Parts: sequence; C-alpha cells; structure tokens
Amino acid sequence: MKPAFTVENLNFKYPTAKEDTIKGISFEVFEGEIFGLLGPSGAGKSTIQKILIKLLEGYRGTIKYFGRDLNSLDNSYYEEIGVGFEVPVHFSKLTALENMKFFSGFYKSRANIQELMERVGLWEYRDVKVAEFSKGMKVRLNFVRAMLNSPRVLFLDEVTNGLDPNNAKIIKDMIAEFRAKGGTVFLTTHLMNDVEQLCDRIAFCVNGRLVETSTPRDLKLKYGKREVKVEYRDNGNLKSALFPLDGIGFNEEFQTLLKFGKIETIHSGETSMEEIFIIVTGVELK
Ligand SMILES: Nc1ncnc2c1ncn2[C@@H]1O[C@H](COP(=O)(O)OP(=O)(O)O)[C@@H](O)[C@H]1O
Ligand SMILES: [Mg+2]
Repeated sequence: MKPAFTVENLNFKYPTAKEDTIKGISFEVFEGEIFGLLGPSGAGKSTIQKILIKLLEGYRGTIKYFGRDLNSLDNSYYEEIGVGFEVPVHFSKLTALENMKFFSGFYKSRANIQELMERVGLWEYRDVKVAEFSKGMKVRLNFVRAMLNSPRVLFLDEVTNGLDPNNAKIIKDMIAEFRAKGGTVFLTTHLMNDVEQLCDRIAFCVNGRLVETSTPRDLKLKYGKREVKVEYRDNGNLKSALFPLDGIGFNEEFQTLLKFGKIETIHSGETSMEEIFIIVTGVELK
C-alpha cells in the first residue's frame, strides 16, 4: 500500500499559545484506508486535520502527500480533498441546494448533488433555508459538502456527532463505500462506535502526542482479557464463571459446564474500544 500522507516529526504552535499544541508526531495514512485519529477533547485532533488540509501554516516537520511536500502544493490540492469540518459551515439564508451549488461551483470535478442529498435524506428539503435546519440536518449537509468534488481523500472531523443511529449509519455506509472505491479517509472522532465499524487503523492522540497506532483488532488483542465468561443456571439461579482462554479445551470445570450446565451466554473477555480508550489515553469518555 502506498502512503497518501507521510507525516514526520510534526510540531505546531498557535501564534497565541505559549507552547506547542502538536508535539512531534509521526504517522502514515495509506491510500484506500480509513485512518482514525482518536483522543480526548483538546488533544489536538482538529489541529492536525487543519494542518493536513493546509488551513494552518507554520508547522515544523515534514508532511508529504503522495510523495510531494505539502508546502509545495498549489490550490489544485483542494480539487483532490473533501473536508467535513467539526462545526458545519453553511449560508443560513440560502437553501440547502443553493448552498451545495455554491460550494460545488469552486470545483472542476463535480459529484451529483441530487444523488448525495437523496442518500442522506435531504433532497426533499432542498428548498428549505439552512437556518431552519435541525442540527442533524446540518451535519448531514456538511457531509454532502465534503463529497461535492468527488474527492480522492476525505477529511472528516467528528462527522457523525449529533446524528441519531439511523442517520449515523447512512453516513458510515457512505464512508465505507467511498473506501471500497479506493478512497482514503482521515477521520477524527471521540465516538468508539465509529471506530469499530469503520477504521482500518487508528492512532490515539493525547496532549499533542500520538501514544499508540494500531488496528482495532490488534488493540483488542493487546488489551483484551484472555478469558471466557460463562453465564449459567444452577437450580434456577443465574451464576457466572470465568475461565482462562489458554488451555480452555482441557479445562475440566469448563467442559463439565458445557456438557451438563444450563448455559445462557458465553463471551470472550473482549475489551471494548471504550475501555481501550481509557487505558491508552488515561481519560474517561464523557
Ligand atoms: N485558534 C487557536 N488558538 C490557540 N489555541 C487553539 C486554537 N484552536 C485550538 N486551540 C487549542 O489547541 C488544543 C487542541 O485543540 P483541538 O485541535 O481543537 O483539539 P481536539 O480536536 O482534539 O479536541 C486545545 O488546547 C485548544 O484549546
Ligand atoms: Mg476537534
């Protein structure tokens, strides 16, 4: 797999800040993958996205986009990337469709607006002014906006935040389809559901540093408890027992339960992404 982005020793300080917000981070985003940047609020996720989309200047370190220095890229870069900002930005006095036509007009390559708006359930509201949109509708329109130029790389900052499960699923399906067609996604989120369902690889950002870069599966193996929990009925009472996963085939107590017990559930002791988040970042999810 070739890297879409290669970031080496990235440092960044906001002009008004006393110290660096981004403190020497390195990572790669491969073409065709969904790369998730996770971390607690204030960790620097949005800042990293803003640097990668050339919105913030004056970083130190190197960033390469398909082998080319980010600093050397001209505005044609914006033809290739689609951006979903954390806070939806639209003209509230214009209708949803007017907004999308306006933003689409900046690009040479233009996706089918109707198709996109239909998919997220907004086509029937196309002539409604965005001022009258609910938060969830704005978030969905924000996603359509990111897709307007049929980008090669999608940047999505907390893209499902504020959506109900149905609408979140529509957006997640669209992101997965985008990847299936070869698209690359850089996604920042604090929602562990999104991570499990979408991300090929993830990096945890804490206080401007990356503390762990891995796949969701490897993280689960690394932090998982290698044990099996069995819930069973004993004289009508619900009981549970824990068995170590290693050598479980020879565990007599486990075998007896399997043969004679009234088993209700069996679970491997998988650590949830929420638990991993807390272990890795040391920060409780809100
Ligand atoms: N324009 C800015 N000027 C100064 N500090 C900022 C600015 N934007 C963000 N910060 C600070 O940078 C840190 C990282 O912010 P951000 O990248 O938005 O974090 P995250 O997206 O992980 O929640 C925070 O401490 C935030 O207060
Ligand atoms: Mg953010």
